[in-house]
Amino acid sequence: MMKNIKPIVADADAIKRAADLLRQGRLVAFPTETVYGLGADASNPDAVAAIFKAKGRPADHPLIVHIADIDSLYDWASTVPDAALKLANRFWPGPLAIILPKKPEVPLEVTGGQQTVGLRMPDHPVALALLKSFGGGVAAPSANRFCRISPTQASHVSEELGDAVDMILDGGACEVGVESTIIDLSGSKPRLLRPGHITRQQIEAVLQTELLMPLVSGAPAPEISEETRAPGMMAVHYAPTTPAMRCPAEQLPERIRQLIAEGKRIGLLTYQLDIAETGQIRVLHLPEQAANYAQSLYAALRELDNLQLDVILIELPPQTEPWRAVNDRLNKATALHL
Ligand code: TXA
Ligand code: MG
Repeated sequence: MMKNIKPIVADADAIKRAADLLRQGRLVAFPTETVYGLGADASNPDAVAAIFKAKGRPADHPLIVHIADIDSLYDWASTVPDAALKLANRFWPGPLAIILPKKPEVPLEVTGGQQTVGLRMPDHPVALALLKSFGGGVAAPSANRFCRISPTQASHVSEELGDAVDMILDGGACEVGVESTIIDLSGSKPRLLRPGHITRQQIEAVLQTELLMPLVSGAPAPEISEETRAPGMMAVHYAPTTPAMRCPAEQLPERIRQLIAEGKRIGLLTYQLDIAETGQIRVLHLPEQAANYAQSLYAALRELDNLQLDVILIELPPQTEPWRAVNDRLNKATALHL
């Protein structure tokens, strides 16, 4: 039985100890405004390798380096184009990661062997205090096992990683709840790699140009070389272990009747529909506004996943721009069972 490290309240003393652990090459999970990260000293290849081991993540999946301020961009990126400065000035600290050409000294372990590096200044007091106290860049993927749901509370991290992490800083529930928007500025035109809380329109307004859209993994666009693909953008990701399916509201009652007739135990994630719970169906209601829905989504999926049900049904959210990040994550969570 795996022993679970208990989260500790992220006060000044705990943050100082966490920074010491990072300096020793150890792993520290910490809160950000998006999701909890599993951090290691980004300049230490052995420490970075420990992240991949703890997560069970393939080594070619690049990590985002978290930095304490905009100036630190120059420590990691070999060139910092105007567009990067514009975005950082407008959105940092915040839920936006920027991909830039890496400096030669940035370990390839961090970048999954690529010549680019992902950078982000998170908007969370604990993350920022930790980065400041540590004094360097912290490589941190989401603190979940590979292909599982990202943690949005400290308790999710201990459930998920057991004692594979040396310390878990508890900074409460994450406000954004889905991973950062990722924008690739290493090519000739800016490309959105992962939708998030900061929208395509917000970025286009700052850059005054239209963004190229995400590539589907395994199908690089003609103008893109194999090295610039985003390995983390695979179809199955963020998935619960219980089979999960999306279903439009108007088809839900019939679908539920069918599943109940088959004797299935159902978890239902709704935001609009009012469906009564019975012995066979557990219902969780999410907020009707996209940002609030996003904030609670992963905790709700995790709660349903822990009940060992036969199926999770998800009421299909609106297919509109404010819901892009939510729809992207739900596509991935249900990719195996459509
Ligand atoms: O909100 C977030 O970004 C959270 C918190 C902890 O900051 N982190 C996070 O990390 O979501 P992770 O590793 O779960 O996802 C980062 C994604 C990877 O899937 C990878 O595809 C992409 O960022 N990425 C990182 N560096 C890249 C690079 N050099 N080129 C292309 N994609 C990159
Ligand atoms: Mg992740």
